[in-house]
Amino acid sequence: MGAQKRIGVLTSGGDCAGLNAVMRAVVHRAVGTYDWEVYGIRQATQGLMSSPPEFTVFDIHQVGPLLTAGGTVLGTTNKGNPFAFPMPDGTLCDRSDDIIAGYHQLGLEALIGIGGDGSMAILRRLAVQGNLNLIAIPKTIDNDVGVTERSIGFDTAVNTATEALDRLHFHAASHSRVMILEVMGRDAGHIAISAGIAGGADIILIPEVPYTISNICRRIAERQQQGKSYSLMIVAEAVRTESGEPVMNTNSLGQSRLGGIGQYLADQICASCGAETRVTVLGHIQRGGTPSPLDRLIASAFGVAAVDLIANQQFDHMVSWQNRQVVSVPIASAIAQYRAVDPEGTLVKTARGVGICLGD
Ligand code: F6P
Repeated sequence: MGAQKRIGVLTSGGDCAGLNAVMRAVVHRAVGTYDWEVYGIRQATQGLMSSPPEFTVFDIHQVGPLLTAGGTVLGTTNKGNPFAFPMPDGTLCDRSDDIIAGYHQLGLEALIGIGGDGSMAILRRLAVQGNLNLIAIPKTIDNDVGVTERSIGFDTAVNTATEALDRLHFHAASHSRVMILEVMGRDAGHIAISAGIAGGADIILIPEVPYTISNICRRIAERQQQGKSYSLMIVAEAVRTESGEPVMNTNSLGQSRLGGIGQYLADQICASCGAETRVTVLGHIQRGGTPSPLDRLIASAFGVAAVDLIANQQFDHMVSWQNRQVVSVPIASAIAQYRAVDPEGTLVKTARGVGICLGD
């Protein structure tokens, strides 16, 4: 390696809005302030696994449009754990040493991994095994990474879900229907509780608060008695059936993922109180599109802070948003603490306070 320091950056796990804005900030800080080189690794760790490694060298004069671009220009994957990597013959192979070799072959001084808790756990394991200098930046629409109040992509997803509720509101009122919006969030209800409050939902269901169908029907009936012939409901994808079963979608390959709780609830509501009910599943629309101003701001702050951590040799740390500023925390602490919605917290209290039914 020459005198000029070279760092790598990759995006790992599901995409979301704001990933490109992070890279723009990383490039500005690393190239503009420190005169380093920034290598963008393609397709998460798979770019390092390839021989030769697949990467692009970022040009500080070309990154301007990244501020507003959705997705990730580097590509990403949420499949293919390198410690049990699926091979073409159907077997699983430990490819971790190939990734470590790719990092050293590129002469990287450090690697910035932009990912959720699953990606961070994998990257950290690689870093420990291969002596890699790792910095993590939290991203996920689920906002469930521990020890940070915000992850990149969450605000945009909440904006999108809120706008969907605003639109459904008119439809529900016009047709005197119960409209259910099913949103993502994996095991946490952050998107549902935030968008539900912001979008004026009448009923919010999140996995952290138990519900009964009769409580939901009671709220629908109360509204009807008050002359409101419609109800607007938002449900997080990980909410279970009333008896506690997870609701999953299974494709023709036998792969299951969360999905379908909205239709389950619609059927139960229709059977219990006869309300005409329709379901909208928002899906991956929540991950796409132009990042919100807040996501651009957090992405920029995280990108700059991550590069500064490298400059200070403070490796094995994640940048974190706490009390309106960026701090750094050990990656291990972020992985160790899953962040669900606090059932006694401000947002749940706020929802109850403005008369929203949480189903309990
Ligand atoms: O973690 C982000 C997320 O969008 C979850 O909210 C959702 O459950 C999952 O990813 C969907 O994954 P996939 O893109 O594989 O369908």
